[in-house]
Amino acid sequence: MTDNRNPEAAWTYHEATKHSYASIRSNPHFLDWSNQPLPFKIYPALEPMRLPSELRQTGVAALSAIAESVPAQTNAAPDLEAVAQLLYLSAGITRKRSHPGGEIYFRAAACTGALYEVELYLVCADLANLDAGVYHFAPAEFGLRRLRAGDYRRALLEATGGEPSIAHAPLTIVCTCTYWRNAWKYQARTYRHFGWDNGTLLANLLAVATALGLPARVVCGFVDADVNRLLDVDPQREVAFSVVALGYTAALPPQVPAEISPLHLETVPLSQRKVDYPLMREMHAASSLDSAEEVETWRKHTPTTNISPPAGPIVSLEPFSDGEMPRDPIEQVIQRRGSTRKFARSPITLPQLSTMLDRATRGVPADFLDPPGAQLNDLYLIVHAVEGLSPGAYSFHRGRGVLECLKRGNFRADAGYLGLGQDLSADAAVDIFFLADLRPILQRFGNRGYRVVQLEAGILGGKLYLAAYAQRLGATGLTFFDDDVTRFFSPHAEGKSAIFLVAVGHSAKHKPV
Ligand SMILES: Cc1cc2nc3c(=O)[nH]c(=O)nc-3n(C[C@H](O)[C@H](O)[C@H](O)COP(=O)(O)O)c2cc1C
Repeated sequence: MTDNRNPEAAWTYHEATKHSYASIRSNPHFLDWSNQPLPFKIYPALEPMRLPSELRQTGVAALSAIAESVPAQTNAAPDLEAVAQLLYLSAGITRKRSHPGGEIYFRAAACTGALYEVELYLVCADLANLDAGVYHFAPAEFGLRRLRAGDYRRALLEATGGEPSIAHAPLTIVCTCTYWRNAWKYQARTYRHFGWDNGTLLANLLAVATALGLPARVVCGFVDADVNRLLDVDPQREVAFSVVALGYTAALPPQVPAEISPLHLETVPLSQRKVDYPLMREMHAASSLDSAEEVETWRKHTPTTNISPPAGPIVSLEPFSDGEMPRDPIEQVIQRRGSTRKFARSPITLPQLSTMLDRATRGVPADFLDPPGAQLNDLYLIVHAVEGLSPGAYSFHRGRGVLECLKRGNFRADAGYLGLGQDLSADAAVDIFFLADLRPILQRFGNRGYRVVQLEAGILGGKLYLAAYAQRLGATGLTFFDDDVTRFFSPHAEGKSAIFLVAVGHSAKHKPV
């Protein structure tokens, strides 16, 4: 069995899946449209139970919902309508587009290639209008399929080594990732996408939970095999990646049968043929936790990845005051979100950028971020067009609320190149790069540190998307040339790895307001 504590597997995976100018040009991969995977997991023998389709309006401003969380021990349990709202606004179908090969069902959160490899499962107690059980969320029907009847929450509690938020949560959502659905396009790099795409989904889920008054906590410490068994997923194809505890009740879950039996449920094959990328499965196995004791020592005590105090010129953030803050509600903002396909080269303002950075980085409630407010990724910016800020490269000092100028200049061409030669990063008003020093992270968390650093970036990136759309700006995630990104921000970023990129600005479709 591979040991999570030996981080060699994560380094090997990271190096092997870097994009470079040469790697992109020498890769013979092409998209085999005749073998495109199905966008949904289908259990043909199980009837879905439809979820209520009417969306409750919380009216909570998106810019508050992404920045805040409900205190952990606030008594609250979701009813069926709240469950529907959580699922629709994180993984539901919000738009459809026809194209010659069929239809694309766009979902509430951004996802690489619109391939939607993240599936959601519910493990719940008896809730108002929803019986206790283990359910699979079916976005195509907007329904739930019950896989197990009864309260199985204790199985999750044991698998998470007694994590308190799981002990008291009436509802837990488990997010799994399906290799082939994303690897069809992105090959072995898909394991990074698991973190990104699960992360953008969680940004929505956490914000909606806050708007509904539910405490929420992301839990990444669990015995992988036990959670996979509970959901009855085949870990060669689909693996549990993150777990979210939602709500709080004082009572602890009842005992469950010692043996969680296999269900032998038929699912429709995603494609005629599948290509295996063993590197991903090796990365997953090497980052798996095997016992509750291992989980207990794994979680908490986030390594400090403090960036050194600013040495260059600084600019203070100037977020909007409460009175000026845009107040569009979270449900509206999620429904109008979509990735910007072309940016206008028009400027945004310093308060707009400041509000995005400030609101998106106020902390994520997660078992790997301890003390609360800890963050694994550092943010670096290439500013092209922000009124009140000279174009150039910057490092964001979150604790101080300042941007440190690393170099001045017009870097549109460099940014276009770094974003894999796409116009989006050249035309945006600002490109926000996430870089992390993987050394202390992997030393502390082992290979699983690689999962959580990608997931955190996805969550923060998802919050930036929402913060941009809340201000009627556009945003898109982008992929990048790994080592060139680090080189661009060096010497400041020396030794760090590029993890994620979000471009923000005015969409070319809409006139600035
Ligand atoms: C992590 C991440 C990386 C992405 N990379 C790219 C990219 O390199 N180029 C691009 O055009 N879109 C990129 N996208 C946008 C996706 O294509 C988009 O989210 C997907 O098509 C779904 O559409 P929607 O976001 O409008 O709902 C990325 C999205 C994410 C979340």
